[in-house]
Amino acid sequence: VNYQKSDLIYEGKAKKVFAVTGHSDLIIQEFKNSLTAFNGEKKASVDKKGQLNISISTMLFKYLATRGIPSHWVKTDENLNMVCKKLKMIPVEVVVRNFVAGSLKKKFNKPEGEPIQPALVELYFKADDLGDPFISDEQAKWLKVSDQATLDSLKKLALQINKELTEIFPKVGLKLVDFKLEFGIDSDGKVLLGDEISPDTCRLWDLKTGEKLDKDRFRYDLGDVVEGYQKIFDKLSKLLEEK
Ligand code: TMP
Repeated sequence: VNYQKSDLIYEGKAKKVFAVTGHSDLIIQEFKNSLTAFNGEKKASVDKKGQLNISISTMLFKYLATRGIPSHWVKTDENLNMVCKKLKMIPVEVVVRNFVAGSLKKKFNKPEGEPIQPALVELYFKADDLGDPFISDEQAKWLKVSDQATLDSLKKLALQINKELTEIFPKVGLKLVDFKLEFGIDSDGKVLLGDEISPDTCRLWDLKTGEKLDKDRFRYDLGDVVEGYQKIFDKLSKLLEEK
């Protein structure tokens, strides 16, 4: 089937979401080349970033599906549009951490790279005007962001996804430091993985050299963004691309 974009439903900092002609149950995600950090304070546009993210995200969604973890992903077409199931998004960012970095390092003054076992799961409330604050289960219920059963399934799914991803990344010479997921409810009422999994939303370090290959290059001016993302793509595609 060739799916056609119709109306723009939503435009985020790194993505556009379109309705699909004749398919009210689907959406099309278009990945932009723009990058933002620190709640939109720092901005840039980087050629090829969008296509690398969509390719990496596609490989990971496909891989997770083979491991029994379905997502909203339906197909990625030759124009690099990602056709997805339409979900009612839960306004929560689910962060999983295997090693200390980023805001956790800052919050508790821990050494960067220190292993965390078992992995930590944290929830953040998706609200740009508030800077996506950390949210407890009790706060989420109080704000009617979600109910406990849904929060429990988000955390369980996030840890399952972490188990699968921490199995593949070391095989391609990458360390999965931490990452962010978003989930939504499909038309059958099922919680499904949505959004993207890309170097914009993960921290990935070279296993041997420790080189940071993800969006931290942009956040902290550590080097060419596309060069880092391309390395991640090349390594992953050796393992995951269909031959
Ligand atoms: P943090 O250390 O800044 O809290 O980030 C944890 C992980 O979540 C890291 O892999 C980057 C990702 N992330 C996003 O994808 N979007 C965001 O808005 C933030 C703050 C983090």
